[in-house]
Amino acid sequence: MIMKHFLFLFLAFSSCFVSVLAADGERLPAVGERLAADVARLIPAPATYVKTEGEMKMTGQMRFVTNVTAQERKALQGLLAEAFPAMQLDKRGKRVLQIRLIPPHHEAKQTANDRSEEGYQLRITPRDIHLEASSMKGLFYGVQTLRQLEEQGRVACCDIKDAPKYAYRGVMLDCSRHFWPKEFILKQLDAMAYLKMNRLHLHLTDDAGWRMEIKQYPALTEKTAWRVGATWNEWREQGQRYARKEDKGATGGYYTQQDLKDIVAYAAARHITVIPEIEMPGHSAEVLHAYPELQCEQVSQRNSDLCVGNEQTFVFLENVLREVMNIFPSKYIHIGGDEASRQAWAACPRCQQRMKAEGLQTVAELQAYLTRRMERFLNGHGRVLIGWDEILEGQLAPNAVVMSWRGEEGGIAATKAGHDVIMTPGRYCYLDRYQDYPPSQPQAFGSYMSLEQCYAYDPAGHLPDSIAKHILGLQGNLWTEQVPTMAHCEYMLYPRLLAIAENGWSHGKTDYADFRRRALHLQDVLVSRGYHPFDLRKEVGERAEKKTVMQHLAVGKRVVYHAPYAANYPASGDGALVDGKSGGWDFQDGAWQGFIGADRLDVTIDLGEIKPLKLIKAAFFQSVSAEIYTPAEVGILVSDDGVHFEQLDHRRYEVDTSTDFKVQTMEWCGAAKARFIRYQAKSGQLGGWIFTDEICVQ
Ligand code: ACM
Repeated sequence: MIMKHFLFLFLAFSSCFVSVLAADGERLPAVGERLAADVARLIPAPATYVKTEGEMKMTGQMRFVTNVTAQERKALQGLLAEAFPAMQLDKRGKRVLQIRLIPPHHEAKQTANDRSEEGYQLRITPRDIHLEASSMKGLFYGVQTLRQLEEQGRVACCDIKDAPKYAYRGVMLDCSRHFWPKEFILKQLDAMAYLKMNRLHLHLTDDAGWRMEIKQYPALTEKTAWRVGATWNEWREQGQRYARKEDKGATGGYYTQQDLKDIVAYAAARHITVIPEIEMPGHSAEVLHAYPELQCEQVSQRNSDLCVGNEQTFVFLENVLREVMNIFPSKYIHIGGDEASRQAWAACPRCQQRMKAEGLQTVAELQAYLTRRMERFLNGHGRVLIGWDEILEGQLAPNAVVMSWRGEEGGIAATKAGHDVIMTPGRYCYLDRYQDYPPSQPQAFGSYMSLEQCYAYDPAGHLPDSIAKHILGLQGNLWTEQVPTMAHCEYMLYPRLLAIAENGWSHGKTDYADFRRRALHLQDVLVSRGYHPFDLRKEVGERAEKKTVMQHLAVGKRVVYHAPYAANYPASGDGALVDGKSGGWDFQDGAWQGFIGADRLDVTIDLGEIKPLKLIKAAFFQSVSAEIYTPAEVGILVSDDGVHFEQLDHRRYEVDTSTDFKVQTMEWCGAAKARFIRYQAKSGQLGGWIFTDEICVQ
């Protein structure tokens, strides 16, 4: 009865910081109030936790009482034996471990977003442990909590009522850019289960190699699962050539169908669904290498897009997906859909013919045509299509689930059309980004995403109910272009995956300082189990300037832009360069303003009256991989009347691209007087972007 009450409450208060009522009506303390003091061991934080007196030793004889089936009992005993090897479950024993399945609440909704069956209730006293849930999933998660609570063979007594906030708590691993052996994936599944995560999305195909055995198309793996160049960078430098397994120096690999069945079964035993991704129509250079007949006609340059005019493309994709569905029982099948260049289609007679026949006006609509056909095919087999948010362009397939990666906008737009969405916005969910001050880190991809930044995300918390109800959850994505080894892969995954796990599960997230303390503990646990997380204790952290607001003569003054800032990098708009706010290590953090185009940065600041000047400085961001460079030329002019300007400073700089990442300050010091300051910064031969956050005037 208690459990029923509890599940009902979760359905009712699912998207707010809950403080749950106990069955007797007593208000239980919410996590934020008690967790920090009482339970520094749990990630994700449970919905409610109440400390009680005493402790239970997880050693010796314990009477095991359960109402589950014999097979389920065996599974639970296996789990418990692994977690608590010094404990003997028996028919005798003074102390009792009771694990009970209870009927689900009759009002529990069976929707894609239903989370009630994953909840559990755990009560630990010095004499007994009671674990109850309405499903084996819930019991499994209760055991994970018990495992996390254990410290030197003991667990502290407590009362926990828990259920996840989101139904989808995932991680994506890119297996194409670098290949990850089966055992490595099983090891990550163990960690995911420990963190109560329930979806593993495998990016199985991409330009850098096809990784799944397809019996009907053996050339996919024979011709592209190995390559020249051990790392993705070397492969690119050496002309993106594929190899055969037997070729000297060839590196790579693929999963046999048996390997994938093993992965699926191992995951299922941990209540994790494996979602396969077969990329189409872009990111498919390897398919075109193995089966060149799927290339567009009249292609003049390297192209990664399948020909959508060719009926054989559909035959190929459906045959591949049939084999995929045979291996993966997942309801969801991911068809990629991101970053197709679509260029070859404009010149390809077959694609043009298809567009004419189907009344399609644009190449984006041609991609949407492919997505809709794939969706019909998958739906016909009882499956649901997931695609990256590009599938919104053209016309969204009617039943598709959208994975929103280019920010949240695509996902939000999809929910408005009634679609379910999984949030994976780059700023909070991309685990290929730098997790610490970039120069202190191995080469990563794109920008900076610290553990704190990752933890700040709640996929639906800030959205109205009408949108939030379609958000299934979130996923951390690890693209592996810059991740060449297994140890490095774990370094990028952990500890940020702990934040993703908590963001997906916990109703009342605690403050970051508390989370970090718990993450430090879990980091040690992971290390003790042979994982290789980034060491949070050595974290340098965010750019110091970002943490303070600058005071200077130009703060709040009027700025005239002689060349516009880029619409997609406006920072706070016209006042951004004089708002006193500095950017951090992430150029997308909303404090950096971006400029591209002929004139780059060219602004005049009006100080309102003539002022003595002694320092004018600006910081510039460089990220070579994002084509953002420090300026090659900076000019400063001053004026008293805003009409007649004279040059105060003009310098040329060498744009040093030997370091991928830096923030460089360029400054003028001296003595002058003026009311107007015109600041100009230009790019050199390399072109690219200029990013600055503030023009500081003293
Ligand atoms: C993506 O990051 N291209 C989905």
